[in-house]
Amino acid sequence: MEIPILNLSLAKDPTTRPQLLKDLYDATFNIGFVYIKNHSVPNFTIDNLTDFLPKLFDLPNSSKSTLSKINSPHFVGYNGYAEEKTLGKQDLREQFDFATELDVVYDENAQVEGGSGRDFSKLYWRLRGPNLWPDEGDLPGFRRVFEEYHDALSKLSFEFVELVEEAFGIPKDTFKDFFVPKQQVSNGQKSKSYLPPQHRIKLLKYPATSNPSGQGVGPHKDSSGWLTFLYQVGTEPGLEVLTKTNTWIPVPPIPGTFVVNFGNAFEAATEGAVRATVHKVKAPVERDRYSIPFFMGLPLDLRVSDIRACMPESVRRKRGEVEGDSKGEEVEISKFLDGRWDCLGESQLRKWIRSHEDVGRKWYVDEACIHVKSLPQRERKLGCPSRHPESFSQKDASPPKPNEMIKLFDLAILHSTKRV
Ligand SMILES: [Fe+2]
Repeated sequence: MEIPILNLSLAKDPTTRPQLLKDLYDATFNIGFVYIKNHSVPNFTIDNLTDFLPKLFDLPNSSKSTLSKINSPHFVGYNGYAEEKTLGKQDLREQFDFATELDVVYDENAQVEGGSGRDFSKLYWRLRGPNLWPDEGDLPGFRRVFEEYHDALSKLSFEFVELVEEAFGIPKDTFKDFFVPKQQVSNGQKSKSYLPPQHRIKLLKYPATSNPSGQGVGPHKDSSGWLTFLYQVGTEPGLEVLTKTNTWIPVPPIPGTFVVNFGNAFEAATEGAVRATVHKVKAPVERDRYSIPFFMGLPLDLRVSDIRACMPESVRRKRGEVEGDSKGEEVEISKFLDGRWDCLGESQLRKWIRSHEDVGRKWYVDEACIHVKSLPQRERKLGCPSRHPESFSQKDASPPKPNEMIKLFDLAILHSTKRV
């Protein structure tokens, strides 16, 4: 099996558009990964950003430390080499996380907005906020070039989602509400509006290693958004995808293309009919490998049930037909959603805290404790850590262990959304 290459220029001609949509539909259900070529992103926009990557990763340690993710409650910023693990094994890469530049909306004392019912005191709103930018003097022009790339990818992602809607037989602009404020939607009566979501972009470096079985990043599904648009820089291979027959196939770089795949939220929205396909990256042995995944964001207060309501029965029916044999591998991949986490912001917050415990401990423990402390003792015990949560806030207490933190956050999120 090979990953299909879709020629997006076929969308412009009414005589070739149906074939493109059929190929997209088939690829979505068969493998969940596609290459796209002849897309709308100009070459110079890509080249301008990729030219910066070696310089960005060569910044002195003092600059990298200023940009460290530990300095951001929004989980943006720098992570050093092999600081993250997947399935218990070190990922041999370093990375900068950026996002759509947005103001902070989280306010622990917020009152519920009358019309929208939006409550900015919920913990997950703290995920939203501005970037940590490198000093302009260190990398002149970087921010402008990055923002041009961000805007071009944002445009491409909207264009691609329109194709997905048409391919799936979903009414045009159904998903537009999730990305564009209500008043800008042209097709009329909408029951709910969302804040425009925050896209995320990783700038990744996989340094060449002498270990031929090194893990660049371990097997995972994408959790950061709706769809992922990956640009693979240069010619160094490494990306592999798990097929339904439980075999890994390579997805090498092809000049001028992006690789597109579906995230966990899409899988949840289609009740598993469209898979968030498992993939991994082998650490390169000859040359450094760089890549740039763009994760198309979704509103934090969007509920999986809201999206499911948009999915036609024809898509849900596919669920029974796509059961594959790869579950053996998949059982180890952490589940994005369970029954308690209907809201995407809650799932996102848990995901970020799991992968960056130090950031969670620094920026979220106190807030979580405030929610949990106001619970009666009986309810605290329902999902609470073995230690009393108040002890986490005490100066001399040892910090919460990862499992304790997740339990604490689970309870805090449930409480902040009035579900305990
Ligand atoms: Fe990924």
